[in-house]
Amino acid sequence: MASIKTVGVIGAGIMGSGIAQVVAQAGYTVVVREAEQRLLDTARQAIDRRLQRAVEKGRLTVEDKAALLGRIRWTLALEELRGADLIIEAITEDLLLKQDLFRILDRLCPPSTIFVSNTSSISIVALASVTERADRFAGLHFFNPVPLMKLVEVVRSIRTSAETFRIVSDFAVSLGKEPVTAKDQCGFIVNRLLVPYLLDGIRALEAGVASAADIDKAMRLGCNHPMGPLELADFVGLDTTYAIANIMFEEFREQRYAPPPLLKKMVIAGYHGRKSGRGFYDYTGPMPHTTDLGL
Ligand code: CAA
Repeated sequence: MASIKTVGVIGAGIMGSGIAQVVAQAGYTVVVREAEQRLLDTARQAIDRRLQRAVEKGRLTVEDKAALLGRIRWTLALEELRGADLIIEAITEDLLLKQDLFRILDRLCPPSTIFVSNTSSISIVALASVTERADRFAGLHFFNPVPLMKLVEVVRSIRTSAETFRIVSDFAVSLGKEPVTAKDQCGFIVNRLLVPYLLDGIRALEAGVASAADIDKAMRLGCNHPMGPLELADFVGLDTTYAIANIMFEEFREQRYAPPPLLKKMVIAGYHGRKSGRGFYDYTGPMPHTTDLGL
């Protein structure tokens, strides 16, 4: 079995920075690549803040925090991923962007490097097939916030070898995660069930069933969900939710995956949820409050 020591993470957004943190926490050397210095800096600060909180709570020593941060290298250059044993792609949910990236990586990296994508809805075989290593290519889908969520979906495409699948599953366990195995079907397990639910929450708001706050409160207190559907859509990112829904609708042509017009309008308006400061809720003040959408 190939032994994994150095892990490349491409994309340092919410998912990429969380993934980089848990991989470094598990003792691996991590090389994180982003296209812009500003995004690298934001990710570095986010990890630093989370670890500092762990230090303050007595869950991490100052020395361990420094050692963990020392295992992460930040770069703008894709070439620096050449030495990685495993590369985790966590860029925008866009088939063509991801395929372009994997074409470049395939030329850059030795044949032994395993590629995985953190995609939540794009077919793994569609990404793997632009490389010469479709047998050493799998899906590894993490959940937000990555440092807290136990689940990882490990996805085996029709071209993933049994050995690659085993290495990737073992790697997920080594991160302290609980893997589940999913077929390479659009949305895997979680998004197949979660996305229609989030969209139904938006449809309920659009239909005037209740206010955003009451829809969320109903699901929090009525079903013990940690967040209601609109809060959760804001948390995932409305642009990401919209992209996933479109990909799933395209794949299955089922109404339940069709993004409601309100979601589309919000994305066009730049209301991308928590990360942009505004979605169904406004996060710019000390306490979130519902955004006035004129409904
Ligand atoms: N990153 C890391 N740690 C975080 C965090 C984050 N984003 N948000 C909160 N935490 C930590 C806090 O620091 C706090 O730690 P301490 O105990 O050390 O203080 C702890 O979590 C609890 O924090 P809070 O009391 O502020 O938050 P909470 O109890 O309300 O929990 C939550 C926050 C874990 C995010 C919870 O609301 C939750 O589980 N929400 C649902 C998340 C979910 O469903 N995620 C999956 C989304 S789908 C997806 O990711 C896949 C996809 O393809 C769309």
